[in-house]
Amino acid sequence: MQPVRKAVIPSAGLGTRSLPATKSIPKEMLAIVDRPIVQYAVEEARAAGIELFIFVTSRGKTSLEDHFDRQFELYHTLQHRGKSAQLAEARGSELAAGRYAFVRQPEPMGLGHAVWCARQFIGDEPFAVLLPDEVFLADTPPLKQMLRAHASTGGNLIAVREVPADMTGRYGILDPAFDDGQLVAAKGLVEKPAPEVAPSRLSLIGRYVLQPEVLDELDRQDAGAGGEIQLTDAMARLIGRQPFHGVRVEGERFDCGDRAQLVAANLAFSLRRPELATEVRNAAERILMETALNDAGEPEARVA
Ligand code: UTP
Repeated sequence: MQPVRKAVIPSAGLGTRSLPATKSIPKEMLAIVDRPIVQYAVEEARAAGIELFIFVTSRGKTSLEDHFDRQFELYHTLQHRGKSAQLAEARGSELAAGRYAFVRQPEPMGLGHAVWCARQFIGDEPFAVLLPDEVFLADTPPLKQMLRAHASTGGNLIAVREVPADMTGRYGILDPAFDDGQLVAAKGLVEKPAPEVAPSRLSLIGRYVLQPEVLDELDRQDAGAGGEIQLTDAMARLIGRQPFHGVRVEGERFDCGDRAQLVAANLAFSLRRPELATEVRNAAERILMETALNDAGEPEARVA
């Protein structure tokens, strides 16, 4: 079986749910604590052994490109001022020369189109796709969990998770043929089905290991749900021709394109940071208590 060495990180969307921040800051560059969202995807891919990072970007995303580059002036200044911890942090987000590439998607024509734009870099080998706005807090990074499972399934593998029945219309949904509790053999995939017609509640959660034949399917450039070129539709056409499984990955997931979940991710990640945890916990408890008292209409009882 060919190893999975390349990862595509689609980052060319408009981020309309995060306006007005995303007028001038790419959604993928909004921060969770002190790292941009996209850095979590890169760290996850790196932990899974990925050797080439292919970012799909668009106009207005140059800060994302700069983030992974070397910044001589900054490094020099930090060194000169003896700020070695900050220097190590800044260097930690650098990617090795020749190990990353940027390809432009001229228009946000959908996730399938974004992946198709990376086809020359992917070539004829299996590859991973990580949606950077899906961020996971997990002991074992999700892509690493998936590559372990992939060693036994081969073919195509997508991360899945149950969503409430009334939310199927927001996600790609897997139609299960067989479910052993962790692995789910797929007999179909549907993009954003209404709850009444959804074949299950198993949603696709932004991590994929795909065979290169999906690029031939994307060549057709068929528009699907919402008029966009959907990765889900191209993947669905591989089912029956190649092994195709969903895998339940462990860990807490945050869809950081959603404002409430971005706030929750900041709270969860900062509570995992020893140097921040106490201060953040105290602030969160105080805010929650004040809000509860205010909501209960007892302003005189407010905590000082
Ligand atoms: P989303 O649908 O969550 O991102 O796509 P979006 O379209 O930017 O967000 P909203 O709904 O308008 O707020 C998931 C990922 O796929 C990328 C996005 O950048 C995001 O990281 N994407 C999406 C592309 O690269 N190109 C596209 O045409 C669409």
